[in-house]
Amino acid sequence: MFKKSLFFGLIFSGIMFANNVPKTYPSGELGKMVRLGENILMHTNTNPLTKNLVGNNLKCINCHLRGVDGKPGTGKGIGTFIGTASAFPAYSKREKTVQTLQDRINNCFMRSMNGKRPIIDSKASIAMAAYITWLSTGMPIQMNEKRPCSPLNSERWAKNVKKFTEIQKKATHINYIRGKKLFEAKCSMCHGIDGKGIGSFPPLWGKDKNGKWLSYNCGAGMSKPAKGAAWVQSNMPLGAGNTLNDQDAADIMLYVDAQPRAPFVLKEHLLSNMGYYNSKVLNEVDTVKSNFQALGLDINEIKRGN
Ligand code: HEC
Ligand code: HEC
Repeated sequence: MFKKSLFFGLIFSGIMFANNVPKTYPSGELGKMVRLGENILMHTNTNPLTKNLVGNNLKCINCHLRGVDGKPGTGKGIGTFIGTASAFPAYSKREKTVQTLQDRINNCFMRSMNGKRPIIDSKASIAMAAYITWLSTGMPIQMNEKRPCSPLNSERWAKNVKKFTEIQKKATHINYIRGKKLFEAKCSMCHGIDGKGIGSFPPLWGKDKNGKWLSYNCGAGMSKPAKGAAWVQSNMPLGAGNTLNDQDAADIMLYVDAQPRAPFVLKEHLLSNMGYYNSKVLNEVDTVKSNFQALGLDINEIKRGN
């Protein structure tokens, strides 16, 4: 028994660290779909098939980072797409249903992209699933009964969200001010002191001059301070992931997620002609206030007008 688990453990870590992304695309129509999906993940807000479904200035690759090969979602940090396809169908606590990979992809449009959920049968949705599935070539199927994500992300999310929840639920206004100072020192040179992004460095909060929301909304994983801290500690500052200590990552995302962003009213993100929506939770509403309440924090007391 011990030998067997050691054996599979070695194989698994081999897969994990070799980052063996397939080198060649499938041929024919399938290969075209995989490439289209790759293009959409890189250019989500400008690709003609998805630009009208995106409600902010983000692209998938802003959070599912490129690896050394330059391909979307092959970065090693938390949020990688390596192994993702091997985990589906998977159970999601958020929707209280079993989700397919396409369901999971499409849900990031409603929340992280502050947009509309693509239709499951659309070319865009199929293409993104084709690309993400191709990234898991050769990996064994291991359906996830706990959360809809890759075996390479699953325990990292669980462990870190627990850790950051413990830290952040003790937060006061002092942590918020600390987070602001750290943000200004370590993040603002790329994301802007006003969080609106600079050039190709993406926005973190706020609106543009026409009143359009720039970044992820209050229903997104990133808007929950503990999830945000888990992602940021692993991936930011860009190129220097895993350099922020726990308290710093916790305070920085307490500050970032306290800034103005679009409230999330789930029903506003469904197309009228979408057909069936695979979820049992249809009345979800999230705001900055409710995201802080979930940690037992009062946003007004945390910000005190700052
Ligand atoms: C603002 C950041 C952000 C953006 C932009 C974003 N996502 Fe995500 N995505 C997340 C986070 C955070 C999670 C996991 C946490 C959760 O489940 O709440 C996630 C999870 C996923 C998963 C499950 C992956 C796994 O194995 O862990 C898929 C698939 C996915 N996103 C697809 C997409 C696609 C496709 C796009 C572009 C249309 C996109 N995401 C844009 C933040 C983002
Ligand atoms: C050297 C520039 C740089 C620094 C410094 C940096 N980031 Fe980023 N950040 C980026 C880039 C670029 C991306 C998008 C990655 C991509 O598209 O390849 C990103 C993505 C993000 C995202 C997800 C996308 C979005 O816009 O919401 C968050 C959240 C984030 N950074 C937070 C931070 C925080 C917090 C810090 C400070 C601890 C930080 N970043 C420091 C360049 C930087």
